[in-house]
Amino acid sequence: MAGSINKVVLITGASSGIGEATARELAKAGARLFIGARRGERLRALAEQLGGTVAWRELDVTDGADFDAFVEAAEARFGRIDVLINNAGVMPLSPLAAVKRDEWKRMIDVNIHGVLNGIAAVLPRFLAQGSGHVVNVASVAAHMVVPTAAVYCGTKHAVRAITEGLRQEHDEIRSTLISPGVVATELGHDITDPDVASALTGWRKKSLTPDAIAGAVRYALEQPEGVDINEVIIRPTAADM
Ligand SMILES: NC(=O)c1ccc[n+]([C@@H]2O[C@H](COP(=O)([O-])OP(=O)(O)OC[C@H]3O[C@@H](n4cnc5c(N)ncnc54)[C@H](OP(=O)(O)O)[C@@H]3O)[C@@H](O)[C@H]2O)c1
Repeated sequence: MAGSINKVVLITGASSGIGEATARELAKAGARLFIGARRGERLRALAEQLGGTVAWRELDVTDGADFDAFVEAAEARFGRIDVLINNAGVMPLSPLAAVKRDEWKRMIDVNIHGVLNGIAAVLPRFLAQGSGHVVNVASVAAHMVVPTAAVYCGTKHAVRAITEGLRQEHDEIRSTLISPGVVATELGHDITDPDVASALTGWRKKSLTPDAIAGAVRYALEQPEGVDINEVIIRPTAADM
């Protein structure tokens, strides 16, 4: 039986967490997937598990030329591109006074430039074909700010603004912002401040599993062409934040 999503979908950050769960969910729905991240071995293992309509390539979203090559490889493999899911992200939280300039830069590079590199790579193709869908994974951090998360929240506010700008500028292109609350994944594994790492463990006591977010992405993709799910916020029912 044909699946509900007869589309070619690109997913960044598919080597773990929400991206991996989204790949599993969309593969079940019949989508042809091209998945990317830096850890190729994880992508290879996932693609092997999911079968023939899933292809992969290593990708560093901070490198615009690499993102262009990723999109070209997807087009060569499947003949077209219908959806880009900009999911890759990092969250090395710390108080501003710790002045972790390298971590600030990495968040801005991955979370903002990574999304822009993806839009730059697919937008000319979407305009030429007169259709396309960009799904950006932001966060509840796109809607609020908490101490130790100033820069991370700044990057996610930026993703929200960029997604809304894309929506306003193009009638033929769908844009969706997916904003998860706390989800149990590897995110934050690179937090270097021990107090913040311990706070994250506390926040994760009330968390979703990544498949909850994957289900929201699937819902957005399954809508008819004339229906654009602009934003979904998904929190654990008992969430504090
Ligand atoms: N977990 C949460 O509570 C939560 C809440 C709200 C929003 N989010 C957002 O959800 C998205 C996915 O995060 P997650 O929770 O699933 O965390 P995760 O398990 O750590 O996954 C992050 C993914 O991003 C990829 N990535 C990081 N840097 C990259 C780069 N330079 N180039 C390509 N890929 C890169 C990682 O792959 P490689 O390391 O293999 O490159 C990994 O696949 C992020 O945008 C995050 O901000 C998460």
